[in-house]
Amino acid sequence: MAKRVYRVVIVFMCVLISGALAVDKPTTPQKTCATDECHADYGKKAFVHGPVGLGDCKACHKPLNPQEHTYEFDRKGRDLCEYCHLDQATKKNIHEPVKTGDCIECHDPHSSDGKFLIPEKTVAALCAKCHTVTEGFAFLHGPTAVGECTVCHQSHSSDYPDLLVSDHAELCFSCHVVTQRELKKYEFIHEPTKNDCIGCHDPHGGSDSKLVKNLAPFLCYTCHKDIQKIAENSTYQHSVVGDIGGCMNCHTPHASTVKFLLKKDAATLCITCHDKPVGISEDEVLPAFTDEIEDKEFKHGPVAENDCSGCHVTHGGEHFRLLAKEYPPQFYAPFSKENYALCFSCHPESVVLTRETSDLTDFRNGNLNLHYVHVNKPDKGRTCRSCHATHASNLPKHIRESVPYGVWKLPIKFEKTETGGRCTPGCHLPYNYDRQSPEVYER
Ligand code: HEC
Ligand code: HEC
Ligand code: HEC
Ligand code: HEC
Ligand code: HEC
Ligand code: HEC
Ligand code: HEC
Ligand code: HEC
Ligand code: HEC
Ligand code: HEC
Ligand code: HEC
Ligand code: HEC
Ligand code: HEC
Repeated sequence: MAKRVYRVVIVFMCVLISGALAVDKPTTPQKTCATDECHADYGKKAFVHGPVGLGDCKACHKPLNPQEHTYEFDRKGRDLCEYCHLDQATKKNIHEPVKTGDCIECHDPHSSDGKFLIPEKTVAALCAKCHTVTEGFAFLHGPTAVGECTVCHQSHSSDYPDLLVSDHAELCFSCHVVTQRELKKYEFIHEPTKNDCIGCHDPHGGSDSKLVKNLAPFLCYTCHKDIQKIAENSTYQHSVVGDIGGCMNCHTPHASTVKFLLKKDAATLCITCHDKPVGISEDEVLPAFTDEIEDKEFKHGPVAENDCSGCHVTHGGEHFRLLAKEYPPQFYAPFSKENYALCFSCHPESVVLTRETSDLTDFRNGNLNLHYVHVNKPDKGRTCRSCHATHASNLPKHIRESVPYGVWKLPIKFEKTETGGRCTPGCHLPYNYDRQSPEVYER
């Protein structure tokens, strides 16, 4: 069937050509076929195919009927060419037109002005006949921009996916030696940077010069669905996470000297923004974190250790102020252990559970646990924040200097003594407590 089609085509073409040149078709076998009159351009282009140059038309065309000057191919498709060019596609993944034997989609069997008998001026123009990978980009990748598709792709077959010439990360590093050298300096390498550059970069082009497939956070969400869920669905969100560019506020994409690919250690990172007040809504402004710790004599254990994540979840969470666990926002709250899960993740809950104790806490009058007295109440229990500053304080035991009470800063005036303490808060007359000689309180 195919043979017939070829035959008809060739006969038809010969008629056309001979008509145009007004040269009669020969009716007997000729010594040479490419002469000044017949098939004149076959030997004259920049690149002439070996057998054509030798005038060996019969290497491919077999005479069918010399009187009618008709020919047929006695080998078809790949066989026609692979008769001489053995094993053009021996590797695992074979380019579709090679598989189907359409060698002549990419090569002129006779001669051409393009190298490798390519029927176009350049390889890129050839590929562009069937592929549009460079369309729609504002920026093209260096080698793609200059049409060097084949520095990365094999034309015929490859052992790697996408007809690549090597494993793709190795391929990227073959040119990006600086990036490869840079990466070796870092202790923490982002997993996909080891072998999946194209998880983030489009090898052909991009909408910006870094050729990223998308902007953060969407780029990151393609793999970090769990973080996406947190950033988008949490009750309390940190806008700098999910905003355009988000993740890059704190993380580097390739590698870092800091764990979790952070740009800097977490605490330094936080105060790049929290060194000034930030608005969280039209009528609520957060104080600058740095003001709360600067010049303070006592820093809370984890704050002194720069361990913000001991208490805060950065990406978003279910508790007020991005706290990792429950901690009441108010001054008064009915007591339950769950309310103070944050503090009890590091401090023993017995501090507020036991009424009488001789050792669980220093905040006692004799054996009466004053933590129990203040906090452990069914309705108006004092929350820890009524007395303790969470980040830092100038008073021992992180006692606050004052607590905001509406517009008023209610002073606490705490003084510590050898065996107890004394406060003169705005909520009651001065009170002393003494662990050894308990005060007698008048009620
Ligand atoms: C390597 C194999 C090969 C050799 C050698 C070869 N041809 Fe062809 N030829 C082909 C193929 C394949 C086609 C079909 C091209 C197509 O369909 O586009 C063809 C088509 C033709 C056609 C039809 C019109 C055209 O150009 O497509 C003519 C005429 C022709 N060949 C003449 C010759 C002559 C004359 C020679 C020797 C100088 C020659 N061929 C050598 C493979 C060859
Ligand atoms: C009869 C043997 C023979 C057949 C059949 C044959 N070729 Fe060739 N081909 C050659 C020879 C000889 C060369 C020159 C080798 C060289 O320069 O190293 C060559 C070279 C080539 C080149 C390289 C040209 C370059 O610039 O380096 C391409 C591409 C090519 N052939 C494609 C084809 C295709 C496509 C077919 C089938 C349509 C085909 N060949 C069939 C013998 C053949
Ligand atoms: C999709 C286009 C395409 C198809 C289809 C294709 N080639 Fe090629 N071929 C090329 C390109 C481009 C080159 C230039 C060398 C390179 O960069 O891979 C080439 C180079 C060649 C060469 C010379 C270099 C070498 O590898 O020895 C030969 C011979 C060749 N092809 C034969 C074939 C044969 C035979 C077929 C069909 C089985 C075929 N080609 C199908 C694109 C193609
Ligand atoms: C005659 C049409 C044609 C030409 C020309 C062509 N290709 Fe293809 N190519 C295809 C077809 C068909 C497929 C398979 C379907 C697809 O993935 O689009 C394919 C697939 C590919 C693939 C994906 C392979 C895979 O394993 O998924 C790559 C990469 C590719 N081509 C690169 C090139 C390059 C580079 C060139 C230029 C040297 C080129 N192609 C020229 C038709 C062509
Ligand atoms: C820097 C190396 C590089 C260059 C240059 C390059 N590619 Fe690719 N190409 C790749 C990689 C890597 C993939 C695999 C992409 C992926 O899986 O996301 C690919 C995939 C492809 C695919 C299949 C998937 C798709 O996007 O459709 C085609 C087709 C393709 N390239 C064609 C081309 C063409 C045509 C050129 C030249 C204009 C070219 N490539 C230049 C590296 C390159
Ligand atoms: C053949 C060499 C070559 C290969 C292979 C190569 N690149 Fe490139 N790449 C370049 C050149 C050249 C530039 C342009 C450099 C410039 O503008 O400073 C570039 C630019 C880039 C850029 C933008 C850099 C910038 O500073 O703006 C990225 C990102 C990139 N390449 C990623 C990749 C990835 C990922 C791979 C592997 C899929 C890869 N490259 C493979 C040569 C290459
Ligand atoms: C997790 C996503 C991701 C992966 C994986 C990734 N990159 Fe990048 N890459 C980026 C982003 C985002 C930028 C832009 C950084 C910026 O704007 O500062 C970038 C920038 C670059 C640049 C420009 C120079 C620079 O360092 O800013 C090059 C080159 C580059 N990447 C190459 C690579 C190579 C090679 C690989 C694989 C070994 C790779 N990338 C893996 C996301 C990634
Ligand atoms: C192609 C998939 C992919 C993309 C895209 C991606 N990541 Fe990753 N990332 C991973 C894998 C895999 C790991 C290691 C396993 C894990 O921890 O989930 C990882 C781990 C991480 C880690 C933890 C590192 C550690 O030391 O534990 C951070 C932080 C991270 N990615 C941030 C990002 C950011 C920011 C982006 C966007 C710029 C991003 N990732 C995009 C796949 C990806
Ligand atoms: C405000 C700074 C900041 C931003 C913005 C940020 N992160 Fe993080 N990320 C951190 C810190 C700090 C850690 C260390 C662990 C912790 O405290 O939760 C971390 C840890 C991670 C981890 C590893 C641990 C885990 O929870 O799985 C991944 C993955 C991660 N981030 C991805 C992202 C992605 C994706 C984005 C953007 C949507 C993003 N991060 C935005 C600060 C940030
Ligand atoms: C890029 C700037 C930036 C960085 C870095 C940053 N934040 Fe924020 N943070 C903000 C802004 C802006 C707000 C105001 C609320 C909002 O927009 O989500 C905020 C709000 C907060 C809140 C109060 C949330 C609420 O709704 O009550 C806490 C707690 C917080 N950040 C902790 C941290 C911690 C801990 C880090 C370091 C891991 C950090 N932030 C890093 C910008 C930043
Ligand atoms: C021991 C638990 C704990 C640690 C550790 C901690 N925080 Fe907080 N943070 C809190 C609590 C509780 C609040 C809520 C303050 C309030 O309104 O009572 C808060 C509030 C904040 C706020 C909102 C502004 C404000 O001061 O009310 C920022 C910003 C903040 N913390 C940043 C940080 C940074 C940065 C670190 C690490 C250097 C850190 N925090 C460590 C418990 C902690
Ligand atoms: C991530 C662990 C952690 C969390 C959560 C935590 N703390 Fe602490 N806290 C510490 C460490 C560590 C110390 C220092 C212990 C020491 O020096 O003996 C400390 C010390 C204290 C002190 C002073 C003790 C002293 O002897 O000077 C008070 C008061 C205190 N925390 C109250 C709280 C309150 C209230 C909460 C809940 C808002 C809380 N802590 C949450 C770890 C934590
Ligand atoms: C009414 C004020 C007040 C409230 C409310 C309060 N504390 Fe205290 N707390 C103190 C005082 C005063 C001390 C110092 C006792 C001393 O050293 O004399 C103290 C000491 C501590 C200590 C140091 C160890 C100890 O017990 O001596 C921890 C830990 C502590 N408090 C945790 C908490 C937690 C957790 C909460 C909330 C569940 C809380 N406090 C509520 C006043 C209070």
